[in-house]
Amino acid sequence: MRLYASPSLIALSAAPLVVHSLQLPFGIDIQLPAVLDTHLNSIKSSISQIQVPSFINKIIDPTGSSPLLSLHRDLIAIPSVSGDEEQVARFLETYLQSKGFNVDLIPVESSEYPKKRYNVFAYPEGGSRSAPILLTSHIDTVPPFIPFKDGLRAVHGRGSCDAKASVASQIIAVEELLAQKHITADTVSLLFVVGEETTGDGMRHMNSLSMSWDAVVFGEPTELKLAVGHKGLAMLEVEAKGRASHSGYPNLGINANSHMIDALYRLDNLKLPGSELLGNTTLNIGIMSGGVAANVIPAFAKAEVAIRIAAKHFTDVKVLVEDALKGIEGVEATWKHPHYDPVFCDYDLEGFETIAVSYGTDIPNLDGKHKKYLYGPGSILVAHGDNEKIDKSDLYEAVKGYKRIVRGILNAKAVVVADPAKSETITPVVEVVAQPSVQIVEAKVEKVEVPEAPVEKGDTKKNEEEEKVEYVTILPVDAV
Ligand SMILES: *[C@@H]1O[C@H](CO)[C@@H](O)[C@H](O)[C@H]1NC(C)=O
Repeated sequence: MRLYASPSLIALSAAPLVVHSLQLPFGIDIQLPAVLDTHLNSIKSSISQIQVPSFINKIIDPTGSSPLLSLHRDLIAIPSVSGDEEQVARFLETYLQSKGFNVDLIPVESSEYPKKRYNVFAYPEGGSRSAPILLTSHIDTVPPFIPFKDGLRAVHGRGSCDAKASVASQIIAVEELLAQKHITADTVSLLFVVGEETTGDGMRHMNSLSMSWDAVVFGEPTELKLAVGHKGLAMLEVEAKGRASHSGYPNLGINANSHMIDALYRLDNLKLPGSELLGNTTLNIGIMSGGVAANVIPAFAKAEVAIRIAAKHFTDVKVLVEDALKGIEGVEATWKHPHYDPVFCDYDLEGFETIAVSYGTDIPNLDGKHKKYLYGPGSILVAHGDNEKIDKSDLYEAVKGYKRIVRGILNAKAVVVADPAKSETITPVVEVVAQPSVQIVEAKVEKVEVPEAPVEKGDTKKNEEEEKVEYVTILPVDAV
């Protein structure tokens, strides 16, 4: 029997014939049966002519229509577990060049990682490699890769918080500062490094390039607060050596576990100095092992201890730990490398809540006398977990935050850059140029009291007044 069927009937009844999948606007997929083959091109062209109003695009694809969210999405979509950062660096190079930045890919070599790896250094065209302010974060993530997943309020995926949220919001902040003329091209540069999650080799590599900055803003999850600093870290390996014997004749052996218990009890109860800014120094006995069987006096025991240091220096803690372990038979402790001192950041900017954090950053890996700011969106509490995510609203807040930090740093310095070639009013003023070719026509300058900095004992630092320049109108001298 032969049945004459309409194309739509065939589409309904003959699933194996479906061969073409077309994408309509609004993210709708349709499938066309082969029988429509001859009409395919005209159908495609009709679809391509459908005009979607931009507000609808924003509703159906809020991520795609937001420069911030789409940059953030593109960064997360590229896997970049430490050691494997080339693709994300190349993506950033292309992206930043398309936004008018000069971009250097700086090779970072390390015996640990065989693949090609690059730090990404960028500064606006017409600007300078030696801009006084650096915004920096890292492009590597902890393993494993977790793909991008969009949600209503939050974005999920590896790196969504730590630290691709900082990377994306730093870039957009600088783009906006430039577009809004809050800064000139030679004010800020950007640096995105590899290896922060493991050895810090990306940031340390920068020390060999003779670069320096007045202020460096490090992007890590600080819940949109300005960090006062972060604790230092030292790791200790404790070993106890004894002598094995039958457990029925303990006097013939030396029990390594007993000595280890004594050592760890002392460490666990040790009072270690903290600081008002960073809180308590904490000690964690993370691993213990010892012995071979219940009926054998153990000849060997081992433990590993991590100390998060809130005191001023590692050495303040080191001495106390070593003293505590003195005199215990057969016990030896070795400090593992590397360890780092606590980091005290600058937080002399108005309008930010502050926070003390307990994780490590790249801050100690970058040498120099620059001011150090630590700020970023998201919480460290989700950063390395399976459920890493960031609220979209936090990303937008972070862009505002980075802009305020840059402007705050510039105002604090009360230095201003002005274009001597033309008359213009700059708000806020970035640098009062003491160039003979520039005449300041008018300026609003406020005296502001600088809040008292935390002082060391014996330090007699007083409150200072600083000039806060709200705006300046300048003219080239010839024109006056
Ligand atoms: C610091 O240690 C003290 C004394 O052990 C304790 O009372 C306090 O809660 C600790 N502070 C924090 C933030 O854990």
